[in-house]
Amino acid sequence: MRYRAVLRAGLLLAVGALRSSRAADLMQGRALVMHGAPGITACSSCHGVNGQGNYRLGYPRLAGLDPGYIFHELESFKHFSRENAIMQPVAQRLSRVQMMDVAAWFASQKPLPPKGVHPSERTIALGEKIARRGVWSRNVPGCFTCHGPRGAGVGSRFPRLAGQYPNYLKTQLHDWRRGFRRNDPLGLMQAIASRLSHREMSAVSEFLAVDRIHGKAPALPGRRVTRLRYTRNFLPPLESAIPRGSFGAMVRQGERIFDDTPAEARRYAGNVLSCRNCHIDRGRKAGSAPMWAAYVAFPAYRVRNHKVTTIEQRIQACFRFSENGHPPPQDSRTMTALVSYFYWLAQGAPTGAEMQGRGYPPLKTPPHPPNAVSGAQIFASHCAVCHGPDGQGTRDASGSYVFPPLWGPRSYNSGADMHKVKLAAEFVRANMPYGRGGMLTAQQAWDVAAFVDSHPRPPDPRKRR
Ligand code: HEC
Ligand code: HEC
Ligand code: HEC
Ligand code: HEC
Repeated sequence: MRYRAVLRAGLLLAVGALRSSRAADLMQGRALVMHGAPGITACSSCHGVNGQGNYRLGYPRLAGLDPGYIFHELESFKHFSRENAIMQPVAQRLSRVQMMDVAAWFASQKPLPPKGVHPSERTIALGEKIARRGVWSRNVPGCFTCHGPRGAGVGSRFPRLAGQYPNYLKTQLHDWRRGFRRNDPLGLMQAIASRLSHREMSAVSEFLAVDRIHGKAPALPGRRVTRLRYTRNFLPPLESAIPRGSFGAMVRQGERIFDDTPAEARRYAGNVLSCRNCHIDRGRKAGSAPMWAAYVAFPAYRVRNHKVTTIEQRIQACFRFSENGHPPPQDSRTMTALVSYFYWLAQGAPTGAEMQGRGYPPLKTPPHPPNAVSGAQIFASHCAVCHGPDGQGTRDASGSYVFPPLWGPRSYNSGADMHKVKLAAEFVRANMPYGRGGMLTAQQAWDVAAFVDSHPRPPDPRKRR
């Protein structure tokens, strides 16, 4: 039901914009913010004229937030999907046009750098780990995967978090957990908030408050944080355990290639996808074709062609088809780095074994044949918010992909394993919607996989002439 409400809010925004038959008026917005209107308190008394908010009182900074997001939040207060004793009465008196005007005003303001927040180094380390890597042992993705690199925000659905006040951020996480805020698409934030400890919520909020959007991300500090527990049988080592020296450097390079393939292996990648897009948590997550389970399963004998496949050949296949690119040679640095990373991830695992958590959790043949028509509906309600209504992914303001495309020229080609409806259904059932894997029924996963599969994509290079 909630998704319907969210979709409706999106529609209303579009319809509201049409009906008002004029663009949002910045100066009208400014006047309302400064002076209020009959029955409406001036927003400036709490948020400031320029929307810088108030740290001490927990009034959020609105400057520079996306106007569509601000509008959506005002609608949420008005229609009770976000409960707050202060904002609800304010929003109830605002017309749609007034909402658009104030949203445009606050969006046009520049957020000031954070002041007065001084988290300890330990807090920053834990907060940064959660923001960048998540807590996958409890199925919490990194905040930056949805909120954009450095938490700068993506479009109108994923608000900027960087530079927001820590006490306000923490309140929101608690409100989701307690059900006072229910306006997030697909319950994404409710699921995340319910899986974080209080300590983790505080740490990530404080880190986000002081996070600088601009500038290159510093290297992740090598401290021990949460233990990664995926299967009862095997735990890949912690990132902080990557050794120093030339082997460690090679492992780190492999991890970087896995994380951002188009940038780090430019010569071999032919689309915008990275290995981690289909092998979640940088190849660590059980049930997402993890690399520690793959590493020990090769070399493998293939019945189909009576040949032994090595791990290098398997990697080459993903470059050729999943990446729609060129296979890196066996002795290339790219290959050495990736194999070193996988070798390191699999340290302590039994060799020659089929490990629990390998591949994607298998699905049985569905009772009804996969139906792309009902798949289209599932796509619209459960996937489009991130992958875009046309499946072409979503980019951030700098133009880089935050949510990858699912078909079209920048996607995997039709020789790829993900192009097999069964594998795609298995991947989606276990891992999508992102952070809410297991939400769809098996039949829904089959249907949406058939829908994704029904679109054009680059041809299989073995069949190109
Ligand atoms: C009396 C103080 C007060 C006034 C006046 C006020 N606000 Fe707020 N506003 C708040 C508080 C407190 C919150 C945080 C609510 C929560 O915790 O859910 C908030 C939250 C918001 C948010 C959500 C921000 C986000 O990041 O999700 C928006 C948007 C907003 N206010 C807009 C407005 C507008 C527009 C006005 C004027 C028409 C206004 N506010 C007037 C106190 C105020
Ligand atoms: C799977 C995608 C996803 C991930 C991962 C994610 N978020 Fe969100 N988050 C959202 C969406 C969508 C919203 C907007 C909800 C709405 O429409 O009000 C949101 C909103 C928020 C807000 C409200 C901001 C405001 O101005 O009121 C906070 C706080 C937040 N997220 C914190 C986090 C933290 C902390 C993490 C990492 C632990 C995280 N999010 C990870 C999807 C995500
Ligand atoms: C909250 C945002 C979100 C939603 C909703 C979502 N995805 Fe994804 N999806 C992602 C992200 C992020 C990745 C890449 C994962 C990574 O890099 O960690 C991804 C990766 C994928 C991939 C593999 C990479 C590619 O581009 O082919 C497929 C296939 C996919 N999603 C399908 C779906 C389907 C089908 C749905 C709807 C049932 C869905 N997703 C819903 C965020 C989302
Ligand atoms: C579009 C999605 C996608 C992308 C991108 C992708 N892969 Fe794969 N990969 C798959 C699928 C699907 C499988 C088959 C999983 C199965 O058989 O259960 C697979 C299998 C593998 C395997 C064998 C796993 C096993 O347990 O047998 C390895 C190794 C691998 N990929 C490495 C990579 C590397 C390295 C990259 C980046 C260069 C990459 N993949 C990019 C989808 C992808």
